[in-house]
Amino acid sequence: MKRILTYGTFDLLHYGHIRLLQRAKALGDYLIVALSTDEFNEIKGKKAYHNYETRKKMLEAVRYVDLVIPEENWEQKINDVKEYHVDVVVMGSDWAGSDRFDYLKDYCEVVYLDRTEGVSTTKIKKDLGLQEPKNDINQIPTPSK
Ligand code: CTP
Repeated sequence: MKRILTYGTFDLLHYGHIRLLQRAKALGDYLIVALSTDEFNEIKGKKAYHNYETRKKMLEAVRYVDLVIPEENWEQKINDVKEYHVDVVVMGSDWAGSDRFDYLKDYCEVVYLDRTEGVSTTKIKKDLGLQEPKNDINQIPTPSK
């Protein structure tokens, strides 16, 4: 049984996330996702649209995901690897070479997978944010007297 572990927020679940999860699972037999909690996101200066419980339920509905655990701080990773008998930690290539994951090579394999081009939660939020005012009646200027 080869166990894979990956970390992330997975907000507004999109095609880039699904491809990452699919390729991560293909590296082994059992995929664990350590999902950033709302409190940890606050520490990272990130605000997810969906709360932790909703993001967790959505990930649990993805066929490649076997287990979702909370990611609550930067320091838990070595413990996660030991506790869940992880063989490979997988991250998107945006994390390649960062100190956040490379040190785990002393404890397990670390694999970086290419990010999917052209999609991210940030981009979706930005694109929808740009569309929103067009349909918002409050944005129509009040006629001057
Ligand atoms: N990911 C990916 N391809 C994308 C977007 C994300 O492979 N187009 C991967 C990331 O590299 C990470 C995982 O999916 O390993 C979860 O990423 P997350 O940060 O939750 O998603 P993003 O869409 O990158 O979110 P944000 O824009 O808020 O950073």
